[in-house]
Amino acid sequence: LDDPATDPFEVASAAAGDIARLTGVERHDIALTLGSGWGKAAELIGETTATFPATEVTGFSRPALEGHVGTLRSVLTPRGKRVLVIGARTHYYEGHGVRRVVHSVRTAAATGARTMVLTNGAGGMKTTWKPGTPVLISDHINLTADSPLEGATFIDLTDLYSMRLRDLARSVDPSLDEGVYCQFRGPQYETPAEVRMAKSFGGHIVGMSTALEAIAARQSGMEILGFSLITNMAAGIQTTPLSHQEVIEAGREAEPVISSLLARVIGAL
Ligand code: 6GU
Repeated sequence: LDDPATDPFEVASAAAGDIARLTGVERHDIALTLGSGWGKAAELIGETTATFPATEVTGFSRPALEGHVGTLRSVLTPRGKRVLVIGARTHYYEGHGVRRVVHSVRTAAATGARTMVLTNGAGGMKTTWKPGTPVLISDHINLTADSPLEGATFIDLTDLYSMRLRDLARSVDPSLDEGVYCQFRGPQYETPAEVRMAKSFGGHIVGMSTALEAIAARQSGMEILGFSLITNMAAGIQTTPLSHQEVIEAGREAEPVISSLLARVIGAL
């Protein structure tokens, strides 16, 4: 993937072949990427028929961060849908380039998945969102100054986070709020001034993932659903310093609620 002469879609195709061999499943219907806090949330969506380390699949890098389980799973829902659960996100801030960041999304598309569910743990800029609140992503602002698209690939990003799928999620939980996700490069959290900027731009959520992945998913023709688990308020909104520990703990406490939410939403897809 690091060689510019390599076609990233060919690598994704090879990865999908590995997944078919490792799972015995020729096609998946849905892909689900688990962000921080969402690790256990996939356990209620169905019966796991295969689990394996992502490192057994072409193009996947070693997981860099505690809290991000580097495993892939094939799950069969009660209604017979095949879900590829991706517990192995490569973050942009790891510095391995955007091709590695979106490889799992392209691989998911190559397995046949037409729906991409992206989840993350993120900071909230609305004081009404207490830590542990899941929110729908309605749109994004990509502040990485990078793109998974190479060359003159002019793609439309209208309704990137599908209105149809957001409505479907709200039919499962009418209390779900939504907001605009701002992807910062990280890994440092934002300064209070950066948070004010993001807010004045029309953002509601700050994080370090998802936007680049959503762009790649759209390029591959997938329909996208995004969820942020608000693990803390962003700097300046919350007056106490942010800690990675706090982010992990908020995720742990929210587990029962977001597990059941995710299972019901995936079940309804
Ligand atoms: Cl406040 N910012 C970013 N960029 N990512 C986060 C976060 C904040 N809280 C959890 N993840």
